[in-house]
Amino acid sequence: MDIRVFKNYEELSKAAAELIVEQVKNKANSNLGLATGSTPVGLYNELIKDHKENKTSYKDVQTFNLDEYIGLPNTHDQSYYQFMQEKLFSHIDVETNNIHIPSGNVEDIEKECERYNALLKNNPIDVQILGIGTNGHIGFNEPGTPFESVTSKVELAENTRNDNARFFDSMDEVPTHAISMGIQNILEAKQIVLLASGANKADAIKAMVKDAASIDCPASALQNHANVIVLLDEAAASKL
Ligand code: GLP
Repeated sequence: MDIRVFKNYEELSKAAAELIVEQVKNKANSNLGLATGSTPVGLYNELIKDHKENKTSYKDVQTFNLDEYIGLPNTHDQSYYQFMQEKLFSHIDVETNNIHIPSGNVEDIEKECERYNALLKNNPIDVQILGIGTNGHIGFNEPGTPFESVTSKVELAENTRNDNARFFDSMDEVPTHAISMGIQNILEAKQIVLLASGANKADAIKAMVKDAASIDCPASALQNHANVIVLLDEAAASKL
């Protein structure tokens, strides 16, 4: 793992944006794997700024999101579909048809998982952006998930629901399940860029980097990938 530590969140976000802009400049039809959560918001803001100032184009880029809550309609302000529209897609020139997010609001979730797995097989991801949960989850692959997992319906861990409760009016409204790319899908990306900021991520980062790879820390699966860049602020790196 190529671990890079930055003074603060702003510097980390700028460094992440530089990697993505360079990727898109080198390969206009890049396949980008995208993540939600608060961590990549700074990166998305930098991409929007660059798109406006330097006209980097996403016209031929395809995007593949990691996950989506089950049971929230696309119009729900906490659906990851809405999140991506608001935080990135509506501000850049990506084509609607090139945006791919698993749907958590279909009758047949099994079929949706198969569709998404086939889509990923046919469109290898060039760069996959990842955040990390305080329990070491990536996407919504919670501790205990086999490293061979592919896109499936997953149950959210209690502490993940607690972590995400801040975005909902009450705990009852926090979804219990999601559809998530599996760890194997993530490992198939040519390059992975994981971002983490804040002291509350320090334990998960330590388990990911220092401890032996184990399903207890899903992010430790990245130790088996040859091209991983980890961008941290000083607080997230404080236990390394
Ligand atoms: C969410 C997402 C993950 C994200 C993580 C951390 O639940 N499913 O993809 O990396 O939790 O979120 P945050 O960046 O807000 O700390």
